[in-house]
Amino acid sequence: MRPSVVPDSAAARAAIQTFAGDVAYYLTLTPRQLPSRYLYDALGSALFEAICELPWYRITRAERNLLASRGDEILAHADPLGTFIELGPGSGEKLAALVLAGAAQLHGARLTAHLIDVSAAALDLASRTLRALDANPSIEIVAHQATYEAGLVQAAARRRPAGRALALFLGSNIGNFDPPGADAFLRHIRAALAIGDFLLIGTDLVKPEAELLLAYDDPLGVTAAFNRNLLVRINRELGADFDLASFRHRAVWNDAESRVEMHLVAARRQQVRIPAAFLEVTLAAGEAIWTESSYKYRPDAVLRILERAGFQLAEQWIHEEDGFALTLVEAT
Ligand SMILES: C[S@@+](CC[C@H](N)C(=O)[O-])C[C@H]1O[C@@H](n2cnc3c(N)ncnc32)[C@H](O)[C@@H]1O
Repeated sequence: MRPSVVPDSAAARAAIQTFAGDVAYYLTLTPRQLPSRYLYDALGSALFEAICELPWYRITRAERNLLASRGDEILAHADPLGTFIELGPGSGEKLAALVLAGAAQLHGARLTAHLIDVSAAALDLASRTLRALDANPSIEIVAHQATYEAGLVQAAARRRPAGRALALFLGSNIGNFDPPGADAFLRHIRAALAIGDFLLIGTDLVKPEAELLLAYDDPLGVTAAFNRNLLVRINRELGADFDLASFRHRAVWNDAESRVEMHLVAARRQQVRIPAAFLEVTLAAGEAIWTESSYKYRPDAVLRILERAGFQLAEQWIHEEDGFALTLVEAT
């Protein structure tokens, strides 16, 4: 497997400007917010990998089990396959598990895997994971350091002309979108695919509140570090002076909206300067910055949003013990 594409420094400068603009916009909304994609710098991506190892974060294990046990069925549906497009691959372990599970199915196929992720560290790790795969066939790897939307356009333009495309949106990443955003984004994926292509999507299911909160506020404090690292990143990249010691991590279950919310809560009244965003904000004691939502689904609701976006169910597999669904749909 061979990799390609690395961002140049002009792209890195543009990314900082976009970051500054987003911080200026979202941090002055009511309630104050920061987009969750900025959680994933190099340290954030490493902390996320650590979260995946926590006994209380069951998404990764459940989804990997389903991919390993159902991979051959998934790939049989998508036969003949030419292109993988993975949105937010993280470590790349899940696509690797699918390829290994379906090695017999894929034997002899010429394949390209487009990996789309905002995090250069994640792309690097995912590319190395897939390159190290001792599986037949060898897969060409194309890495796109981009948002999902921009990366999808790039990947669709460079898909193999032969064979179907299989898009993967795993790890319940869809849960980071609010319902209108999820609808719009699934339509975006559908528009990047052709009739007869497939989408495989992983969704965490509604489960008891105590279990959900343990997954987002673990006793080791890894998720708290992941959340607070966003302030470290703003300090480093935008020259801000957030005092880390005066923010605590909070995870809450919002039952009415069916989502876990992560917040950073100011422990005392404080002023923060963010020079690159031309911003100075005063936070009241107890005021929160909302950094991530993770919507939890019911299996039938997953089908409804996919159908609304122009997909038809091929198969849905449920991991009952960990409350997780893997759904394969075909673009119609
Ligand atoms: C929760 S992790 C999941 C990783 C992997 N799919 C898994 O299931 O373990 C989300 C991944 O998507 C990337 N990501 C988050 N928001 C993104 C966005 N808006 N555009 C592109 N990548 C994004 C992150 O950098 C990270 O690698």
